This record gives sequence, C-alpha cells and structure tokens, in this order.
Amino acid sequence: MSVIGIIGCQWGDEGKGKIVDLLAQKADVVARYQGGTNAGHTVEIGNEQFILHTIPSGILYNKPMCLIGNGVVVDLVSLDEEIKHLQSRGINVLEHLFISENAHLIMPYHKRRDKAHEMKLGKGKIGTTGRGIGWAYSDKVARRGLRICEALNLNILTQKVEDFLDFYNFIFKNYFGVETFTTKEIVDEIYPIADKLRNIIIDGSGFLNKMIDENKNVLCEGAQGVHLDIDFGTYPYVTSSNPTPGGIATGLGIGIQKIDNCLGVTKAYTTRVGSGPMPTELDSAIGDKIREVGKEFGATTGRPRRCGWFDAPVVRRSIELCNIKELAITKLDVLDDVDKIKICTSYKINNEKVYKFPLSSEKIAKIEPVYEEVDGWKSDIKGITEWRKLPEKAKKYLKRIEELLEAEIAIVSTGPKRSQGIVKKNYF
Ligand code: GDP
Ligand code: IMO
Ligand code: MG
Repeated sequence: MSVIGIIGCQWGDEGKGKIVDLLAQKADVVARYQGGTNAGHTVEIGNEQFILHTIPSGILYNKPMCLIGNGVVVDLVSLDEEIKHLQSRGINVLEHLFISENAHLIMPYHKRRDKAHEMKLGKGKIGTTGRGIGWAYSDKVARRGLRICEALNLNILTQKVEDFLDFYNFIFKNYFGVETFTTKEIVDEIYPIADKLRNIIIDGSGFLNKMIDENKNVLCEGAQGVHLDIDFGTYPYVTSSNPTPGGIATGLGIGIQKIDNCLGVTKAYTTRVGSGPMPTELDSAIGDKIREVGKEFGATTGRPRRCGWFDAPVVRRSIELCNIKELAITKLDVLDDVDKIKICTSYKINNEKVYKFPLSSEKIAKIEPVYEEVDGWKSDIKGITEWRKLPEKAKKYLKRIEELLEAEIAIVSTGPKRSQGIVKKNYF
C-alpha cells in the first residue's frame, strides 16, 4: 500500500490528469486536495477526451473511490454540470464520488468579484481563470466562508447568504459598479444541488484515514503547480492554495508522515497561462510551433498558453520544496520536429550563477537564462511504450534532464492517450 502525491512542478497544466489516470487503474482512492474549478485535467481514452475540473481524474474507472477533499473550494453549480456531463457519457459518478463536508464553497458572488476585480486591475491583472478561487479562499481564511455541510441546511444557508450579501452587495454597487444579488436567487441555485448531493457529503478525513489504515492505495491529485503556490509561487501571480505537499496534509486531513512519495510532473518544455514571470518564454516561431503541435490552449479557459524551453531551475526549486525523487515527463512527442532544443540549465542574476528559481521578485526580474543546446531527434515518438524504442537523441535529452535535476524519470508520456507512455516504475 502507498499514499502517492501527484504534483505539478511548473505553472500548471503539466499533464497531471494524464498521469493520475495512468496510475489510478490500481488505486483504491483518488483524492483532490486543493484548487477548484480553475483546474482543467485532461484524460484521453481512445478517441474520447474528458476534462475534469473538480472531480478527481480517477472517476473514469469503476474501481477507485474519488474524494473531493476539504482543501478544495467547490463550485456547486459547476460540479453539478460536471456530474451531469460525465453521467451523459456513461460514467457512474455518484457511485464512487465523495465530498468532504468541511470543503468550502465558491459562491456566485466570489465569481462575480473575481471578474470585476480583474477588470479593475486592467493591465496589472493576475490573469485568473475567473472562477472565484481567490475570493473563496480569502473568505475561508477570513472566517466568513460557507462550508458544504452548512449548505445542507436551508435555514443556515439562507441566513449566511443574507449576511454575506450585506457586504458583497455593498462593494458590487459602490466599488465595482456591477450588478448585485438577492439572497433568494443564490439560495434557489445552491440549495437544490447541495440537497441532491447530501448522500455523498462525508467526513472525508475520517474516510481517508480509515482507507490508509486498511493498507489501501491512495493517489493524491494536485491541481495547478508549485510555481502557482500561494507561498512559494511567483507572488502575486499565483493561485490561492498550496499545491505543494503541505497542501496534501491540510487539504485531506491526513498526517504528513502518511504520504509515502510525491511524483513530480513536468512537461518536456515549459508553459504558463496568465500573467507573471516566465524566464524561458519564447516569443518566436518556435514558441508558436510548440503551442500548435502541443495544442497549448487552456483546458479551462481556452486561453493560449505561453510556451518556452525546459527550465531546470524552475523544476529544481519544486524538487527541493516537495522532496521529489521521481518525475513524470510529459509531452516529449511535442518536440519531435524541433531541430535544436534548448535547455535552461541555470540563471545569471547580477552576474552570479543561480541554479534554483529565486523567490524574491527583485531577483526574478533580473533573471538571464543560461542555455545549452542539444540536437533534436527529428522522428515520430508518439505512442512509444518502451524505453529501448526511443531514439538515442531523445534518451540523451531525458538523461540530461535527470542529470541536471538529480531526479529519476519514472514515467515518460509520449502522447495524450492513456496508452501512450513509458512506465519505468510502478507505484502500486
Ligand atoms: P493538467 O492540468 O496538468 O492535468 O494538464 P492539462 O490537461 O491542462 O494539459 C495537458 C494537455 O496535454 C492535455 O491536453 C493533455 O491531453 C495533453 N497531454 C498530456 N500528456 C501528453 C503527451 O505526452 N503528449 C501530448 N502530445 N499531449 C499530452
Ligand atoms: P491545472 O490544475 C494552469 C493560473 C491562472 C492565473 C493564476 C491564478 O489545470 O494545472 P486563479 O483562477 O487560480 O485565481 O488564477 O493561476 N492557474 C492555472 N494555470 N493550470 C491550472 O490548473 C491553473 N489554475 C490556475 O491562469 O495565472
Ligand atoms: Mg490543466
């Protein structure tokens, strides 16, 4: 038995959904521990594509129990749509989905505030997904949030919404100049969904600890990535939760010593959506080519992703922060047709060589990437499932990444589909 964390090592969209799906086959539980509908985790099975936002990526199998942990912020309207969509495609969602009763809700006023706030920031915007994430987490921390267990009681829900609207309607009217809400419209939208989900709202921490005590295999599915972490990311261009391992413990209610291993997920290059620094970003034809071949458009918002070369200092910081020893490298096939591939091995900051992504904005602003160049393999590796079948130059690229990061590559993903990848190490 094992408890394994799946952690994005860059700025999100590393292919966590694909890797979770690969490992979920043998898992007993797949649990999401943070984030919310800002996440878009893609799983491709045969010719079918699924994009999961709040529901763990293990839901596509019949076996694993799927838990939305207390650290996730839940948008009930979106969750209801996601459940219905999956059901319409033949997935028995409600037979193995559970939600922690102490998970906080993303309310309609959080979403409106997110969009209005970004509009107000104008050019200085964070580039959020507009899903209300930051304000839902802010209200949670400010102790004026609403947990899913409270939405199950119509009187409590109505009273709380009325109290919250006293504040929200004031700022909507007087500060943002946008439409206000009535208590009734919010309660009428939220309560029927909460009521429908009543039977799957449980003590998630109690459930998970029992599963671990029974030696079950647990996969903890992270959303976003280390460099979007509220504490360690490129603040303020970050999300509002901790995708790092501490987030697993607090977001699921398990002791940190129960996490056996964290598998880091990284693309064979770098992408980012939204504002904020990205040292290896390519503003050139090669960047456009990677975007086109890699279909680098947001799974949640459809926004084009910024593309750049593999940045070792970025992943090195993640490895240190999360005590990662093993990596899953995704999207190697996207580089199939690139003549010369660059790897950023270190940075020059104030004439000093720096090997780890810095934390201070002042230093980040002065980053000059130091590159080395390797030959591309110039052949089609899509769908390869055996290491020995990779071209020598592709192996060399991966070996160089291992050497630079002092971590082992355990999985190489060679295409978006479930069957496309090389699994060098089995986790369960
Ligand atoms: P996540 O948020 O980390 O789960 O990643 P996303 O689903 O947002 O983005 C990853 C994208 O890359 C999705 O469209 C996946 O289907 C796709 N993908 C994952 N692994 C591979 C791979 O090895 N090769 C290719 N070509 N696409 C991949
Ligand atoms: P997955 O789980 C990539 C980015 C947004 C923005 C910043 C803050 O699919 O990897 P937020 O809506 O969280 O307040 O936005 O974080 N962001 C993501 N980027 N993948 C994600 O999730 C992301 N979730 C948030 O683009 O820059
Ligand atoms: Mg994504």
